[in-house]
Amino acid sequence: MNILVVGNGGREHAIAWRLAGSPGVKVFITKGNGGTGSVAQAIDVSPLDIDAIIEATKLHGIDLVVVGPEAPLAAGLIDRLDLAGVAAFGPVAAAAKIEASKAFAHEIMDAAQVPCAKSWTFDNVGQAINHLETCDLPVVIKADGLAAGKGVVIAQTRQEALDTANSFLVDRKFGDSGATLVVEEFLVGEEASFMVLTDGEAILPLDGARDHKRIFDGDQGPNTGGMGAYSPTPLLDEAAQGQILKTIIKPVLAELKRRGITYKGVLYAGLMFTDAGPKVLEFNCRFGDPETQPLLYRLRGDLAEIMMAVAHGRLSEVSFSFDPRPAVCVVMSSGGYPDTPKTGDVITGLDDASRIPDTRVFHSGTKLSSDGATITSGGRVLAVTSIGTSMQEARETAYKAVKTIHFNDMHYRTDIAAIKP
Ligand code: AMP
Ligand code: GLY
Repeated sequence: MNILVVGNGGREHAIAWRLAGSPGVKVFITKGNGGTGSVAQAIDVSPLDIDAIIEATKLHGIDLVVVGPEAPLAAGLIDRLDLAGVAAFGPVAAAAKIEASKAFAHEIMDAAQVPCAKSWTFDNVGQAINHLETCDLPVVIKADGLAAGKGVVIAQTRQEALDTANSFLVDRKFGDSGATLVVEEFLVGEEASFMVLTDGEAILPLDGARDHKRIFDGDQGPNTGGMGAYSPTPLLDEAAQGQILKTIIKPVLAELKRRGITYKGVLYAGLMFTDAGPKVLEFNCRFGDPETQPLLYRLRGDLAEIMMAVAHGRLSEVSFSFDPRPAVCVVMSSGGYPDTPKTGDVITGLDDASRIPDTRVFHSGTKLSSDGATITSGGRVLAVTSIGTSMQEARETAYKAVKTIHFNDMHYRTDIAAIKP
């Protein structure tokens, strides 16, 4: 079976690695990166070039397309693959809107009576300013559209709130993605990521995970795409998973269906566990990055068979479980990330790191230079992932691997999985 993975970051490296471990599977990947060569054949097609992807599925006899990132999903890649008769893992554009528009996500949650932060939507700067001049602080301000995990500001002061509204709506910091603002009440609690697989009927939960979004230790500094993650989390034990399926996941999928939208693929709920119970911070229409790296490390099952079952509406026929041992992923990022990531630095120590037992170094923003060196090519560079008999052991192994790796101006958090969940 030939499977094409769309995307080329750490999440896609982890997905490609697990798919390549399924019997009889050959994996292709759009562009790939400096680390995917051992598990997948790179094809020179952009993850956003839908026509070229359709063409490539014919050329390489692709039996299943697995889409990693949100942008091609929001742009309708799955809709086009459906039309072309190619099996695909991921939601159609109308369903991916649950991530691509935070205002839409709130509309669905309100209709489905799903617990989430109170929200207000603005596309008029005057009205946004009026609201922000008197609202409670801190206040959460979000770009409505896709912004690579960077379009959320938690404004502590009135001035910061007003400046943020202006930078989104007037200066268009995030282009059209920020042309509409969603303002949310600030929720207090512990965060966790809960992902489920669904084929439109059956729903199977994945184990819980937790990511660390801020750039610096102690959750300081700006939000990033994610600086590390671990799985599982005690916040998402079996009872909590059952409750969240009932109060959040099923009502949202049912509300979408009521509107004629069938959701297939993975649905990710970013949750805040507040004193009043779990509330939704965001939905994603795809696997989390970097949560997927520790989560798939722990998966016991045949990922190709599972994803094929999702694509063909046969999810109720498959089963899988998770290694009870915890896994920890530490992201190594380049200097300047998240605002102005520096690229082109040579990475050393990768071979030594990958010789450390119970460890995989997933590549995110890397590429091979013409002389065969691995160099940085993006903000998040590597996702160093280890499994251990305890969270502490997994964490120590991951950091041991991180310390063998070097590139100029590299940065990583030293407290991944150390913060008590
Ligand atoms: P999002 O991309 O919407 O999940 O937001 C990114 C991060 O901002 C989340 O992981 C939270 O840490 C924080 N955040 C988002 N919304 C809220 C909220 N309403 N209250 C408190 N923190 C939030
Ligand atoms: N780690 C959060 C996300 O993938 O959006």
